[in-house]
Amino acid sequence: MPVTLAAPAVAASPPPWSTSAAAQPLAPADERAQIIAGLLDEPARISPKYFYDERGSQLFEAITRLPEYYPTRTEQAVLRRHARAIAQAVGRGGVVIEPGAGSCDKARVLCRLLGATHFVGVDISADYLGGAVARLRAALPGLDARAVGGDITAAIELPGDVPQDRRLVFYPGSSIGNFDPPAALALLRQMHALAQGEGGGLLIGIDLPKDLAVLQAAYDDAAGVTAQFNRNILAHVNRLIGSDFEPGQWRHEAFFNTAASRIEMHLAACGPQQVRWPGGGRSFAAHERIHTENSYKYPLPAFLDLLTRAGFRQPQAWTDERGWYALVHVRT
Ligand code: AVJ
Repeated sequence: MPVTLAAPAVAASPPPWSTSAAAQPLAPADERAQIIAGLLDEPARISPKYFYDERGSQLFEAITRLPEYYPTRTEQAVLRRHARAIAQAVGRGGVVIEPGAGSCDKARVLCRLLGATHFVGVDISADYLGGAVARLRAALPGLDARAVGGDITAAIELPGDVPQDRRLVFYPGSSIGNFDPPAALALLRQMHALAQGEGGGLLIGIDLPKDLAVLQAAYDDAAGVTAQFNRNILAHVNRLIGSDFEPGQWRHEAFFNTAASRIEMHLAACGPQQVRWPGGGRSFAAHERIHTENSYKYPLPAFLDLLTRAGFRQPQAWTDERGWYALVHVRT
């Protein structure tokens, strides 16, 4: 399948008459310090949250349409296949809260299915989310839909007039897989607190362990879109900290770490690299790697155990016919 990507809307380099500092402000000092600490670590690492600049978000969209990338379309299939049972378990009406809501495409399907009365989308990128929530409101006129800017790994403050009862936290896409088990547990506890109240719950998507070749291909596709997505993190980091990474000098690597039950993505230096940023820098030997992502594949019982430890009860899980992906509902 050919994959075409629109060119990024932002110019690659500022025109000569603009000062580059004004055109491209760096990240705040504390965030810069965190990114640099990761780069200086052994082995070096960059948080996967930095994949999602404008071009990275476009590349991820393209990934979800790749023939090899099964999670997105399998999750949709699970939701379609078990729509009635899921609606029955969650109950009609109520408040849907989606951390990392992004485009709100999945929220539209779920809110329609449940006849939700309220929707609260939470995302770090509040501007983008605001537009998406406005479109959601237009599509579902009866829905009280709002956008809240915030980082889901910190405590989220909801507007005071969002009903306390019948809150469903919706966390689709198997994004929980980006967190190692202790961090995933902490995040699930956060979600438990958010849904606290009469009739509260969580509906979450998880990607299950499966045939190695299927996993491998999903994170190292033939068209090389995931490789572009991985390398793009360096261009984003360059803008955030003022570094001079050359993305073309780094090779995409993805493999399944069986012992940890996770896909790992790394960038490996094609040759020796000297990278500089204001106030410092680091050299990398040929083939030295930067760890950019973990994507955990939890066996269903292990994930249900995590949910129990986070305080949730009465799990119900639905999967596709191949058993590749699960949607799980639990109560607070
Ligand atoms: C958005 C975290 C669910 O782990 O499958 C896709 C990100 N990375 N291809 C995943 C991703 C490489 C994706 N999540």
